[in-house]
Amino acid sequence: MIIEPRMRGFICLTAHPDGAEANVKNQIDYVKSKGAIEGAKKVLVIGASTGFGLASRITSAFGSDAATIGVFFEKPPVVGKTASPGWYNSAAFEKFAQEAGLYAKSINGDAFSNEIKDETLALIKKDLGQVDLVIYSLASPVRTNPVTGITHRSVLKPIGTTYTNKTVDFHSGKVSEVSIEPAKDEDIENTVAVMGGEDWTMWMKALKDANLLADGALTIAYSYIGPAVTEPVYRKGTIGRAKDDLEATAFSITDSLKDIHGKAYVSVNKALVTQASSAIPVIPLYISLLYKIMKAEGVHEGTIEQIQRLYSQRLYAGKEVPTDEKGRIRIDDWEMRDDIQEKVAELWKNATTENLAEIGDLEGYRKDFYQLFGFDFAAVDYKKEANEMVKVDSIP
Ligand code: NAD
Ligand code: NA
Repeated sequence: MIIEPRMRGFICLTAHPDGAEANVKNQIDYVKSKGAIEGAKKVLVIGASTGFGLASRITSAFGSDAATIGVFFEKPPVVGKTASPGWYNSAAFEKFAQEAGLYAKSINGDAFSNEIKDETLALIKKDLGQVDLVIYSLASPVRTNPVTGITHRSVLKPIGTTYTNKTVDFHSGKVSEVSIEPAKDEDIENTVAVMGGEDWTMWMKALKDANLLADGALTIAYSYIGPAVTEPVYRKGTIGRAKDDLEATAFSITDSLKDIHGKAYVSVNKALVTQASSAIPVIPLYISLLYKIMKAEGVHEGTIEQIQRLYSQRLYAGKEVPTDEKGRIRIDDWEMRDDIQEKVAELWKNATTENLAEIGDLEGYRKDFYQLFGFDFAAVDYKKEANEMVKVDSIP
């Protein structure tokens, strides 16, 4: 069928398989163009189908010839309805990995559940023996704790006082003021339960107890800090509490891996257009201004450039992994440069509906957003019939 983007609010209901393939291919080509990385050879990526997790899987496979197992939660195609973008991304990834002679298998289901953990552990045991890198890159609005059975929902709210600032509807380009009411106590607890470190701990304990972590294994989770303007709703809001918890969890996991010389890190990444970040008020306006400045300065990166740099210049650079005073890896270093932040702050003050298309990179934002769903790739002929029912035996 002919597949077009169909929007509802901030989500796109359709995805294009050929565009997803072009996206994955571009990322693979980028990683290959940067040369080999002396990295892990057996890698588990939890949250492997989109965003930073997909970029991590691609960097491991095509930068270090790694065997990869990817875990994600995506919808397969059904008659009359396209798959979710991450499903098509994963189908394309597996196709390219197989062509390159690389082991790649995927598990599609709720990574927070005991069942999916057990299934993943069994697959590692059967096919890989052990893994030497575990990437933890989940972004989800909801988690059912497998021990308590309680379903927690995360919220994006400030703590203490109402936060009022500018935001943009990136579809219409309309800049307006948004006010977000402060979180209640249970909102904080629930957000920490979803996006904090508890599930990461559960994964690492299960892997270690089953003797599936190689000596010296690493595990990495992703975090964000960002600028002063988004602080009340991001880093000092409910999601920030979850990130504080995730960052603290890196230390407790490292302690638990001492006897196998393993280590857990959090990497603080750059703000990027992903399905998760598009849903956070205020962030799209910040990103559109940030992109404009970073592109002008020649330091703009997407997910693949970020993760390729994380691997080649931080994790596997052949020296001690550099971290900040809180033990975090920083690949948001270019975003957070003083000169970049000063320029963004200046633009922020002046941004209006009338001038945003000029002073911000609204076009770049939209393009990145549509590309998440496989649209807007020059290499794809969207007038042609697409086979939305792509089947990949290895993806349930
Ligand atoms: P994303 O939405 O692109 O990816 C989320 C992944 O998690 C997908 O593979 C999805 O299938 C998977 N997933 C979600 N719920 C699941 C479940 N229940 N079971 C199994 N898989 C599930 O998100 P992203 O932006 O790449 O975020 C990944 C991490 O990076 C998050 O911790 C996020 O906070 C962090 N981060 C994001 C940004 C940004 O600007 N986007 C910046 C810095 C850090
Ligand atoms: Na991800």
